[in-house]
Amino acid sequence: MHVTRLKLANYRNYKVLDFEPHPGLTLLFGDNAQGKTNVLESVYLCAVGRSHRTNHDSELVAKGEDAAYIRADVLRGGIDRRIEVRLMRNGRKQIRIDGAAIARMGDLMGCLNAVLFSPEELSLVKEGPHARRRFLDVLLCQTSRAYFYSLVSYQRALSQRNTLLKAMREQDQRRSSQLEVWEEQLALHSTALHTARKGAMERIAPAASALHERIAGGAEALTLRYKGDLYGRELKDMLAANREDDIRRKSTGRGPHRDDFSVVVDGTDLRAFGSQGQQRTAALSIKLAEAACMEQMSGEQPVLLLDDVLSELDSGRQKRLLETVSDRQAILTCTSPPKGVRAEKRMCVQGGVLFPE
Ligand SMILES: Nc1ncnc2c1ncn2[C@@H]1O[C@H](COP(=O)(O)OP(=O)(O)OP(=O)(O)O)[C@@H](O)[C@H]1O
Ligand SMILES: [Mg+2]
Repeated sequence: MHVTRLKLANYRNYKVLDFEPHPGLTLLFGDNAQGKTNVLESVYLCAVGRSHRTNHDSELVAKGEDAAYIRADVLRGGIDRRIEVRLMRNGRKQIRIDGAAIARMGDLMGCLNAVLFSPEELSLVKEGPHARRRFLDVLLCQTSRAYFYSLVSYQRALSQRNTLLKAMREQDQRRSSQLEVWEEQLALHSTALHTARKGAMERIAPAASALHERIAGGAEALTLRYKGDLYGRELKDMLAANREDDIRRKSTGRGPHRDDFSVVVDGTDLRAFGSQGQQRTAALSIKLAEAACMEQMSGEQPVLLLDDVLSELDSGRQKRLLETVSDRQAILTCTSPPKGVRAEKRMCVQGGVLFPE
């Protein structure tokens, strides 16, 4: 699938934009703060209904204007579709597909699949487990509604149990039966979370390793390993056994909300010991594996939105990365176009205007 045309009006620093990305690689280059990321953000918005940078839609409306308009024309399996988003200054949002307003955000999912890599994605390898759990949750929620509901139910039970723990003192026997109610819920939903995450990791880990080997030119080997905590019956027993500890700590110590996966290159944990280029290569490989996973599930290649991914990569890695994504639509931003890189289309971004090179 690919975006054939993107139109913007009063979006961020764009008064108007009418832009036809190439079905292959389009390079957007220009100085800082000219509007490169804004273009990627607007495409991503059409894919998932929200920005990757802010939860406040009104920030996307150009300063001094009342409303922003974003339109993406998408070609998928020979069929043209038009996604239109209208954002009002007061925060209201209206989304249309082929002219018809959608009732729920869920109706937008799958019209345009996009995977965005922004510098923040480095948190996948640089930060604590939270970023990696979120990565799995976002991928699984996008592809399975059942997962979404299990996750919501699990989180609700967790916060109920934690609230109760905070209100309890040690050896407070009266309330253990209340705790047990939530422990049963946690155990019940934990199994669905565990099974889905394990399944996703089984697909992502080998794909990420293969991509990483390709981009790093065989210089290093990446291994991802799912570290799932207890689930099901074992979780229930453990929670019951750990009540005293949990009351003292006032939170639930075990369960899928503690899941993680390790990111290891050549036997060393990247989080502690990776160079910047290694961390970036690994994070990119994980995101590209996500794209491959999405493609398996939907049968369509997602559009790749690559924000400033080339910096910190040596020229060999840059070249091999671009070869890896050359079979699909990718829009890539950079401050200065790298030498020796072949792109089907190059545009210079300056003050919210795109100029052909
Ligand atoms: N709501 C808005 N109205 C007008 N201008 C805005 C709005 N939001 C952001 N901008 C402007 O958009 C510009 C930033 O655009 P963007 O983040 O796309 O830059 P960039 O080209 O990706 O830069 P960098 O190379 O630093 O990443 C800034 O000049 C900012 O002031
Ligand atoms: Mg940017």
